[in-house]
Amino acid sequence: MEKQKSFLPTAPYKGTRDFYPDEMRFRNWMFSVMRETVQSFGYQEYDGPILESFELYQAKSGEEIVQRQLYDFVDKGERHVAIRPEMTPTLARMVAGEVRNLAKPIRWFSIPNLWRYEQPGKGRLREHWQLNVDLFGVNSYRAEVEIILIADAILKKFGAPKGSYQIKVSHRGILDSFLGKTLGLAAEKSQAVSKLLDKKAKISKEAFEEEIKVLLDNPSKQLDLIYKYLDSNLSNVGDLLGIDPSSVEFIKNLFSDLESLGVKDQMEFDPSIIRGFDYYTGCIFEVFDTNPENRRSLYGGGRYDNLIGLFSNDQLSGIGFGLGDVTFKNFLEGHKLVPDLNKKNAVLIPIMEEKLFPEVLKLAEELRSEGIGVETMLEAAKVGKQIQTAEKKGYQFLLFLGESEVSENKVQIKDIISGSQNTVARAELISELRKSLLG
Ligand code: HAM
Repeated sequence: MEKQKSFLPTAPYKGTRDFYPDEMRFRNWMFSVMRETVQSFGYQEYDGPILESFELYQAKSGEEIVQRQLYDFVDKGERHVAIRPEMTPTLARMVAGEVRNLAKPIRWFSIPNLWRYEQPGKGRLREHWQLNVDLFGVNSYRAEVEIILIADAILKKFGAPKGSYQIKVSHRGILDSFLGKTLGLAAEKSQAVSKLLDKKAKISKEAFEEEIKVLLDNPSKQLDLIYKYLDSNLSNVGDLLGIDPSSVEFIKNLFSDLESLGVKDQMEFDPSIIRGFDYYTGCIFEVFDTNPENRRSLYGGGRYDNLIGLFSNDQLSGIGFGLGDVTFKNFLEGHKLVPDLNKKNAVLIPIMEEKLFPEVLKLAEELRSEGIGVETMLEAAKVGKQIQTAEKKGYQFLLFLGESEVSENKVQIKDIISGSQNTVARAELISELRKSLLG
């Protein structure tokens, strides 16, 4: 019996995506809007290698990333390496390498592809693209003002309406003083409680209380304080005994500066914002879609004072955020903010007769040299079939070049959407097309 041929699967690796042209068009559009926005604030683009040494993440990325999510392996030269799960360590390494030569403040952005071994689900994949915007060399809250303004400007650039997103802000100084002083927890317990607080929204109240009681020395009193802390706002969080007043002051200043800039309505102090990475030292924030169908954060970020110190004695404070493409796409689709990306700003020229192919190429070249995009068919076929192809490819305009048009030095422009068909002189073609394509 003939052996059944077995085929390789066409599906990509679990938790990853193929970007067919439609998805690629979307991704390019989304990141071009972001790129334009951050460049308008003076940020410059950088990139680094996708593979880094394992130690780079071991130092400060946090246990969850390092032990559970890192794609790491030993290379053929016995080096322990990892595929980047985030950009911040690479950025810190690059800035540290040139720190004395770079003009401050350093304003950089990047759009890397990142890999995390996660359980794939809504808003979570094993690879994603992430816009990273970071600012180095400013210690005052003005750096936070700028970074949050950029986060907000990106959303506004996409036309996000008021109320469609929320920027939730806290401060590691507030959180750490609450855990260490208000609750009086030792460092190790502080870390475990903070992890649990981070998880709280994803588990039931009963499960949260059961898990946290094990970590507390005086559960009834401490649990009460935890709930008071989580319910607090910017005016009363400082009333809890032990909370660091300078961190509260920092956030108050930030809110007051943003008040006059039309961002404050979107902002909220939220003490339950934790951020999983160990490197954050100051203000921390996340941006959320208010659509309950898209619950994972759109952006996450914060200030990190000590990262550069991993590489030398230099000190330079950094602050920034990462914005992932997966949840952001859900946000744009959920709020109907995606324009018609399929419509092509170019024309298609069918082949009416095989012998006219050189004439078609000549016309196409003429138009391209004037900046008009042209796709030509490569074989003659029935007109109806060629129109169908043009429609499927997203063209609105076709140019017909038959024998009579060539001899009379004319071209027919067909608008597939309106159905109209116009014959124009070759000399007027370019200005006609510009009107049609831009209009
Ligand atoms: P992060 O919170 O891990 O921060 O990621 C930032 C954003 O990337 C998240 O809000 C989410 O939109 C997206 N994201 C993260 N993991 C996944 C995933 N597995 N699937 C889909 N989307 C994901 C950082 O990575 C920090 N390094 C950001 C930063 C830059 N902090 C300062 N500068």
